[in-house]
Amino acid sequence: MSTPVLTAVAWPYANGPRHIGHVSGFGVPSDVFSRYQRMAGNRVLMVSGTDEHGTPITVQADKEGMTSQQTADKYTRQIGQDLQGLGLTYDLFTRTTTGNHADVTQQIFLALHRNGYVVPKTTRGAISPSTGRTLPDRYIEGTCPICGYDGARGDQCDNCGNQLDAAELINPKSRINGETPKFVETEHYFLDLTAFVETLGKWLSSKTDWRPNVLNFTKNLIDDMRPRPITRDLDWGVKIPLDGWRDQPLKRFYVWFDAVIGYFSASVEWARRSGNPDAWQEWWNNPDARSYYFMGKDNITFHAQIWPALLFGHNGEGDRGGVAGKYGKLHLPDEIVSSEFLTMSGSKFSTSRGTVIYVHDFLREFGPDTLRYFISVAGPETQDTDFTWDEFVRRTNFELANEWGNLVNRSISMAHKNVGAIPRPDAPTAADEELKELSRKAFDTAGAHLQRSRFKAAAGEAMRVVTAANRYLSDQEPWKLKDDPARRDSVLHTALQVVSDANTLLTPFLPHSAQKVHEALGGTGVWAAQPELQEVEDLDIPGRINPIITGDYKTEQARWKSVPIEVGKPLEKPTPLFAKLDPELGETGPEWAPISK
Ligand code: MF3
Ligand code: ZN
Repeated sequence: MSTPVLTAVAWPYANGPRHIGHVSGFGVPSDVFSRYQRMAGNRVLMVSGTDEHGTPITVQADKEGMTSQQTADKYTRQIGQDLQGLGLTYDLFTRTTTGNHADVTQQIFLALHRNGYVVPKTTRGAISPSTGRTLPDRYIEGTCPICGYDGARGDQCDNCGNQLDAAELINPKSRINGETPKFVETEHYFLDLTAFVETLGKWLSSKTDWRPNVLNFTKNLIDDMRPRPITRDLDWGVKIPLDGWRDQPLKRFYVWFDAVIGYFSASVEWARRSGNPDAWQEWWNNPDARSYYFMGKDNITFHAQIWPALLFGHNGEGDRGGVAGKYGKLHLPDEIVSSEFLTMSGSKFSTSRGTVIYVHDFLREFGPDTLRYFISVAGPETQDTDFTWDEFVRRTNFELANEWGNLVNRSISMAHKNVGAIPRPDAPTAADEELKELSRKAFDTAGAHLQRSRFKAAAGEAMRVVTAANRYLSDQEPWKLKDDPARRDSVLHTALQVVSDANTLLTPFLPHSAQKVHEALGGTGVWAAQPELQEVEDLDIPGRINPIITGDYKTEQARWKSVPIEVGKPLEKPTPLFAKLDPELGETGPEWAPISK
């Protein structure tokens, strides 16, 4: 039974290279999940891209003295390298500045408009008296009108968590230059969330098995269903496709409005590039498909409230009914998988505070699998979690190098030295059967965990098999069985079978090393596929070149099951799988991210 599985991965802003906090939220979890789903035989479509509109980009562009497009071009390339380097198997990682994305965004808006779920309203917006430019809500600071907190931002109060309107702040000040913003009348489109109270309420209450952190958050969403503006006074973004709006130089969609639509537009772009422009329908028009959204916790509202409302409205399924837009009824999210924050010395990873460990530095020095493993077993899966170099060193040295690397190395070395090939087993003993049974069973238990995005538990099951295999070797002592080669070969055969199984179980977490183990066991061809970077021409804007991540994942051999190893297959002397790290690294950190004392 093969299910179409959409893995929808949060879109990073194209305003800087990614740090390990980012990829622990959306990146590694979504890829471990997708790799497992492919191995289990499901048809995965994994999409994302860089989020390139709105003030996150214009502010960075101003800082660097570049245009918004140049800024987006620079960082989409860097981010592509970060994510490809980590081995994240996107079918398409694109960007929100494509012609396709603008077109799809406008189509979704027009359907919402026809169904009466978006309405124009006059509001008060802030402008900077000194520059005359609009001042985005998040760049205004003041006292929260609800809780009295001093450092509330114009879009949200971080103290009480309420969404705010900049005009409601007491003593508003620009965070850019401290001046008092001027509020002027301006017209904007609003998504009328009051028309989704019943639909969304019913939908959310049917979602009982999401992660507790997400459920806790969504419980309160229904109480905050007021109209939310989906356009901004800005010169950077997707234009509003209506007469009187389309030609206005300063009217664009709000960055979050077009970004969430990216999940769908990227699927359409992927289909167009695949040669079958309707191929997206298998995931989006199919009630039997399953969609999983991966993100950090600061994104939950947009995925559990705004995006579902947009989909319901587009489909004509909100409280006011309506008819579906040109794409037909689009599939609602089945699961919102949100991570908590990876922190450093207790505070959120942030570029501005200087507590930052960039993915590209990390990859250069430690390679992708150690980071993937660390995030999977010690990341912020259900609670904020502190990154420490000390723990990174411990996990890498004890779990990857000592436990797993040594098991692979000593079992293959012994078989290579004594037999030169996969040895033939003799009659199995109870100990042999017991170990093989343990590893066979782990496919069910770890698979069930991965299906529910319980990565720590899944990796724990795989490592239990590794530990048991090491204990088995110590108990059986094949190195002392020179006088009983038949039994020795049996033990080595059993060990190698379990190495092969454990390698399969670890493949979603450690795809690069899994390929090496596959080869060390005499395998050929692609075991675990890797993504590639390409430069392609925009499908709709002639001459515009876009860097993308894509890949051919169909030919990979990895399947989620125990595959019997082949007696007689030649083995070579293995090379170590993981280098041990100098324990001092745990105390000092690397040169490029020293631990501050
Ligand atoms: N760019 C946003 C952030 O980094 C995430 C956007 S996710 C999507 O927080 F839903 F908009 F795609
Ligand atoms: Zn407040």
